[in-house]
Amino acid sequence: MIFIIGGTAAYHLHLEEEAHVAEVRRVETPWGQAPPVRRLVAPDGVEVWFTSRHGEGKLQRSAAFVNHRALIWAARELDARGILTWNGVGGINPLLRVGDLVVPDDLLDWTRVRTARFGQEPSLPWSGPFWPEGREAIVEAAHAAGEARVFEGGTYLVTEGPRLETVAEIEAASLVGADVVGMTLAPEVWLAGELGIPIASLCIVTNRATGTAWRDERRDFSPNVARRAFHLLLAAATRLNEA
Ligand code: HPA
Repeated sequence: MIFIIGGTAAYHLHLEEEAHVAEVRRVETPWGQAPPVRRLVAPDGVEVWFTSRHGEGKLQRSAAFVNHRALIWAARELDARGILTWNGVGGINPLLRVGDLVVPDDLLDWTRVRTARFGQEPSLPWSGPFWPEGREAIVEAAHAAGEARVFEGGTYLVTEGPRLETVAEIEAASLVGADVVGMTLAPEVWLAGELGIPIASLCIVTNRATGTAWRDERRDFSPNVARRAFHLLLAAATRLNEA
């Protein structure tokens, strides 16, 4: 089954209204308890595992305090064949507006103090950070849903947080080719890679990055972000199951 990690505003979702909640699993891992994982059955019959990275009910853990190892280990314990995640991001690329969708194909890791591995195993053969079939399924699901502004590629810069970036940091990131900035995809992508679980992300621009808000002053961290992302990833999971 596909394992969906809900990001921005996932804690606002009323899951029972979106899908049938068949089961709740509380997975103990060598790195502590993972957030609760639910087995959901969507109206079209697709079954997925679902968990909310930042907690439930409200924002319980901001990005810098997520237990990434427990989260990714849970996907392995539940035999996930792939991970789809959504991530709210700040837009760095001048073309990006709040609400745009980006399916990143590369990662720039500027985190400093996070543990990005489980053990001392040599890593698996390197095939790039993101799952090509997962990315394709997300892009196709977005087009099929009538989404007009979908960027099929881009570099996601990961910062440590919890603070936001400085103007100078965003200017530097822009010079080296970052398109969006967020705080969660590393180390998740590295950890999933170590376990051999492919992973792809749907990024939703929630704001313009520090110093660039003059391009679009809006900010959207509302429950709508989560509902939209959730349904797109369910549709992507359906495509992956059919493939
Ligand atoms: N910076 C870092 N992380 C983020 C941002 C941002 O501007 N927006 C959403 N997540």
